[in-house]
Amino acid sequence: MSIGPKVRRMLGPIEAPVSSAYRSMFINIGELGKAIDAVPFGRRVLEVGVGDGMIASQIIERRPDVSVLGIDLAKNPGSLFEGDRGRVEFRTISTSDLLAERPVPFDAIVIADVLHHVPPSMRKALLNDVANLLSDDGVLLVKETVVVRSPGYWMGRFSDRWITGDRNVSFLREGDLKRLIADNVPNLVASGRSTIRPWKTNLLLVWRRGTH
Ligand SMILES: C[S@@+](CC[C@H](N)C(=O)[O-])C[C@H]1O[C@@H](n2cnc3c(N)ncnc32)[C@H](O)[C@@H]1O
Repeated sequence: MSIGPKVRRMLGPIEAPVSSAYRSMFINIGELGKAIDAVPFGRRVLEVGVGDGMIASQIIERRPDVSVLGIDLAKNPGSLFEGDRGRVEFRTISTSDLLAERPVPFDAIVIADVLHHVPPSMRKALLNDVANLLSDDGVLLVKETVVVRSPGYWMGRFSDRWITGDRNVSFLREGDLKRLIADNVPNLVASGRSTIRPWKTNLLLVWRRGTH
């Protein structure tokens, strides 16, 4: 979730602190970083829909052992990234084009607040790519703004539609999100669930590949 593109351009050098303050009304990014850090996973991390790179910053700061590839369809991904640039790469590329490059499968894939921006008819294709990009013992972490009775959900929905300007957002209930993942990313075992302050709409789900 981010403030609108026009406002961002006007902010110039103060874009990072203002974006960060704005986002803190919706989610405590540090707490999300801590929850991700609590999940054991290997060294190669892919973040799909990395956006400004705020979550990549958290991962890189908290996990000195990992490198992150952050991809997005939008231009200039990772524009607000802060941290060790030697361990992060940002690319504007789709998951299918990345898959066509046959990368070594990733130990962890993070998808944060992306799925509700993806039209329902395209989610299956995206998740099939994710399934093929994830290693046989990899970890999938999905953070979504789910439909719940909470002011945070309505605030997030309003912001996405009217501030960010994506009028086509389509949010999932927790059960639908779990089914969507289970139906499209095979051999996953659920291994974590947490909500991230300040709102219970901020759901982080974790799955591990394999049978353990
Ligand atoms: C709300 S932002 C979240 C950014 C980041 N994950 C975070 O939480 O800070 C959603 C991002 O998903 C990207 N996105 C939407 N559909 C995508 C797709 N099919 N593949 C990759 N990125 C996508 C958008 O361009 C946008 O940058």
